[in-house]
Amino acid sequence: MPSTSAIFCLLALATIHLSSAHNKPEDYLKAHNEARASVGVGPMSWDHKLADYSHKHAQKLKGNCNLKKPQVSKYSETIAWSSQGEITAAEFVKMCMDGKPLYDYNSNICALNAKSTPQVMSPINSLAIFHLVVLAARIHLSSANNATQQRYVHLHNEARRNVGIGIGMTWDKTLEDHAHSYAQKLKVDCIIEHSVSHYGENLAWADYNFTVDHIVKMWVDEKQFYDYNSNTCAPNQMCGHYTQVVWRKSVRLGCAKERCNNNHQFIAICNYDPPGNAAGERPF
Ligand SMILES: *[C@@H]1O[C@H](CO)[C@@H](O)[C@H](O)[C@H]1NC(C)=O
Ligand SMILES: *[C@@H]1O[C@H](CO)[C@@H](O)[C@H](O)[C@H]1NC(C)=O
Repeated sequence: MPSTSAIFCLLALATIHLSSAHNKPEDYLKAHNEARASVGVGPMSWDHKLADYSHKHAQKLKGNCNLKKPQVSKYSETIAWSSQGEITAAEFVKMCMDGKPLYDYNSNICALNAKSTPQVMSPINSLAIFHLVVLAARIHLSSANNATQQRYVHLHNEARRNVGIGIGMTWDKTLEDHAHSYAQKLKVDCIIEHSVSHYGENLAWADYNFTVDHIVKMWVDEKQFYDYNSNTCAPNQMCGHYTQVVWRKSVRLGCAKERCNNNHQFIAICNYDPPGNAAGERPF
């Protein structure tokens, strides 16, 4: 698996209970997380808001059982259909994963697009492939929407992997929005002070237009001052930015950079959720 271990997939599980499959959240989670683990991606967690959303959507779809295309929403979606009785959570995920051999990670394209790969597909297979295309597209789109975001995610996860943390961070729009709106305040005076929020927060300042690499390096460079065994920082040094980066339980981040109003200084903010640096706890 290449460096992007922070592959993130917001799956709205539209469960079509044609004959009332009694899938439990744990079943869906287990099936998804096994599939993710098989390609080196950290686990998902269950979200009740998404489950409610899927449930409502399923109520609409079951009317005529027409799954032509995913509905337009801010969530990504995989939908399964079966004429052979209930779909278990494991089968549901298997249908999605059956298209995996057609997906080429390096080029991020699906063999379906290649005319040289004729496929005779039963309806169920084409559905499975459709899911995978959605899945694959989302893997790359929602893990981080652009190169800047991907770089933040990558550098954080590299630092985490270097100390054996397999759980990557993923980009989070809410955190990005928080960082962005707080950056609008800080850039006025260009003084970095922490916001009051329930997120973790790393701040950085420079008198030049620093890159994402510079920003994250400033934080990760504190590693040399942090002593894991005693869980302490060398005198007169800072370690908290580093420990936030490698805080195992912090799995989402969102960042923003702004030029200050004085025009020649820059600030950067990353917010984290759940927040790190809980007193008395080790980062990992
Ligand atoms: C990419 O993401 C960064 C950070 O979220 C944002 O500041 C920038 O505007 C985005 N660029 C594009 C082209 O969307
Ligand atoms: C800062 O540098 C980035 C590229 O790293 C560039 O996209 C951006 O426009 C620059 N911002 C300013 C205000 O110069």
